[in-house]
Amino acid sequence: MHKTSRAAALGLVVLSGFPAFSQGLLYGQQHAKHYANSLAPYVVSPQQIVDRMLELADPKPNETVYDLGSGDGRILITAVQRYRVKAVGVEISDDLVQSTSDRIRRLGLQNDARVIHGDLRKVDLSAADVVTMYLATDVNEMMRPNLEKYLKPGARVVSHDYPVPGWKPKLVDKDLPQAHNHVIYLYEMPAQKK
Ligand SMILES: C[S@@+](CC[C@H](N)C(=O)[O-])C[C@H]1O[C@@H](n2cnc3c(N)ncnc32)[C@H](O)[C@@H]1O
Repeated sequence: MHKTSRAAALGLVVLSGFPAFSQGLLYGQQHAKHYANSLAPYVVSPQQIVDRMLELADPKPNETVYDLGSGDGRILITAVQRYRVKAVGVEISDDLVQSTSDRIRRLGLQNDARVIHGDLRKVDLSAADVVTMYLATDVNEMMRPNLEKYLKPGARVVSHDYPVPGWKPKLVDKDLPQAHNHVIYLYEMPAQKK
């Protein structure tokens, strides 16, 4: 997302503490219902960022990609269609879970892609070969112990715009054509767990 759009989105999150927003005027009743557990606003990654995130993660056929906070499911769908992987989204908003699951079914991808309706902090990630995230730096920091606990050696973590504090990226991509304000961080889990 453009930095100003992100600021606007985050501003709306702050505003959501006000009753009018928490009653559903901003995100709709379904989203508001889960707002207490929401760690990041719903803002999609532009498709060229999705493409580049997956290109950097380089998923192999039959690997499994997890998108933490899967939004409209574009990362899951792109991963399955282009890389022939399994893809799992984790999403707190039940209307996004519903619309993404509907879209997956319409595209005939239900054997390869699915969305878990739940809190990304509570998901077992041991099946993941690739994890994608578009959350926030403090959320990434909070997730780091889980990622270190669950991910196998060689698993890749790709984060749009926000680093994982305490980890050294394998690559930071800032030179994205037509997406100059975006940054992608690529990490790889070490061969030996610390
Ligand atoms: C910035 S959007 C990213 C969407 C998608 N990954 C993309 O890159 O296009 C963040 C998503 O995380 C979801 N989310 C926020 N907190 C969550 C939580 N605790 N558990 C699961 N999903 C969450 C939001 O509803 C939103 O869809």
